[in-house]
Amino acid sequence: MKRKTFYRSLTVALLVMLTGEAIAQKEVPAPQNVYARQNVSLNGDWNYFADLQEQGYYDYRMNPTKWGYFVNAKPQNPSDLIEYDFDMSPTMHVPGDWNTQDEQLFLYEGTVWFKKDFEIANIKPSDRKLLYFGAVNYEAIVYVNGKKAGKHVGGFTPFCYDVTDMVKEGKNFVIVKVDNKRHKDNVPTQIFDWWNYGGITRDVLLVTVGETYIDDYFLQLSREAKTGNRKSSNSKYIDFSLALNREEAGQEITLSIPELKLKQKFVTDDKGQINSQLSVPSSKLELWSPENPKLYKVEIARGDEVITDEIGFRTIETRGRQLLLNGKPIFLRGVCSHEETAYTSRRCNSAEDADTLLGWARQLGCNFLRLAHYPHNEHAVREAERQGFLLWSEIPVYWTISWQNADTYANAEQQLRDMIRRDHNRAAIIIWSLANETPHSDARDQFLGRLATTARSLDSTRLLSMAMEVTGASNYVNRLQDNMNKYVDVVSFNQYIGWYRDVNDAPKMKWEIPYEKPVIISEFGGGAKAGLHGDKGQRWTEEFQENLYRENLAMLEKIEGLSGTCPWVLKDFRSPRRPLPGIQDGFNRKGLFSDQGKRKLAFYVLRDWYESKK
Ligand code: GCU
Repeated sequence: MKRKTFYRSLTVALLVMLTGEAIAQKEVPAPQNVYARQNVSLNGDWNYFADLQEQGYYDYRMNPTKWGYFVNAKPQNPSDLIEYDFDMSPTMHVPGDWNTQDEQLFLYEGTVWFKKDFEIANIKPSDRKLLYFGAVNYEAIVYVNGKKAGKHVGGFTPFCYDVTDMVKEGKNFVIVKVDNKRHKDNVPTQIFDWWNYGGITRDVLLVTVGETYIDDYFLQLSREAKTGNRKSSNSKYIDFSLALNREEAGQEITLSIPELKLKQKFVTDDKGQINSQLSVPSSKLELWSPENPKLYKVEIARGDEVITDEIGFRTIETRGRQLLLNGKPIFLRGVCSHEETAYTSRRCNSAEDADTLLGWARQLGCNFLRLAHYPHNEHAVREAERQGFLLWSEIPVYWTISWQNADTYANAEQQLRDMIRRDHNRAAIIIWSLANETPHSDARDQFLGRLATTARSLDSTRLLSMAMEVTGASNYVNRLQDNMNKYVDVVSFNQYIGWYRDVNDAPKMKWEIPYEKPVIISEFGGGAKAGLHGDKGQRWTEEFQENLYRENLAMLEKIEGLSGTCPWVLKDFRSPRRPLPGIQDGFNRKGLFSDQGKRKLAFYVLRDWYESKK
């Protein structure tokens, strides 16, 4: 487990070296299950203003300035010249995106400064104060009381700073420079088919922990009995590992799962870690599944530090071309979904936002969601788990990334680590996806190969995949060929027969997938403007989309080893790549639901097909 902190400091060192920017060494891993820690929410109204020329960060020679907006300066004397004032500036809600909260910023890509005042009372000498961000899109530079805590890149994973030495009892303020400018070396790169929502898009918490605290833990059903555990079919084996924030031996940890009458003591080793395995009678353990999303109350205690969690136990594995959940074959009745709210089309950031979308997926008869194309917020993942949805979680290595840029790789790997770390106790997540529609090249293969090796080293209980693509057929034969097949457990690919190619040829199509692994169709589909009706040959009509689904499903049904389908997409969503007036108007219209929740005719085709798959 400590290797993670080593890797994190290595990454930070790499970033410092590569970016040549002095980054305050305040960054710490975001504690596991942060919502179960003692914390104060800093959500709410934050002052903000846009800074198109980053004047609050650079001087007129474009050198970083010490007198930037992060100082939050106020005129001390009548003649003082201060040309900004957060407290006089408007406010917007955090968490949230600026695009849908301020009309002027709807299309804005650049820097926006945010400020929040907060009070702290009764700081105990042993308290550590951690400032936690669920996510900020895209680049965040964080200051506390005018001092720099750190810089983070990547818009969809949590990050955290130890600000103990930066805060004080009484009044404090945090300032964040947020910049969502796209760049070719970023992850995602500069083009992507979703709205580039900018802002502090997820929760902000001020967390209080002790000098020593439980940094991370992992509690999941294992596929095999580890050394010292005699394999027996009457027992199930639960892997338990834990890491303190520092190397402290002899710390007593108590793990309790009251419903299983399980209470066991462990002691940390000289690295401040525990790596163990529990065995529980199979008859006692209810396994998590979509039909029975059983979660157990779990308590992990170290002295007066007590963390409670809700954890489900299930196994996911492959056998040849079969996908097995809890040892039984399963078909993934899936749909792809962006993290965008129903009706209001803004960034989701709560269980309620997720609940509406999950309700639509349930109407379709789904038991699986592909969370596209980036890790979604923790509330959504936990809500899906409570409701019994299996999940695919992905990092935004999307289309043509700068494969040979070391900085880009470090960024992608950090996002992968943070995605797995945050959700590795979520039974609902069965697949980690490393990429989407990436062009074949040696550099790409090396990049993704390294990510795959890293993912395996971090989590051996889940499956690996990525959205490959089949973009053409010769003589109606579609052949999947991708060097990355050797790294994944499930071969998944996107295909758009009937929309981007071969309209009305689906019935003639044959498929060759030369890999002895389960197959998931990670995307297929076509667009329709809800309410537009006409001949099935007329693009954008609901009838065209309906026919496309009918033909595609009949075609896909013939694929050997087909273990799941994830049509693109649950609902129409915003995209700057979709301008067609009167039809798209800034929305990708491939939804089975409109953005206003209207079912399109294709909805019924898929629902009935999924009914037949139950
Ligand atoms: C691609 C891509 C999606 C995109 C979709 C589309 O396959 O993965 O992000 O939105 O196709 O073109 O609609």
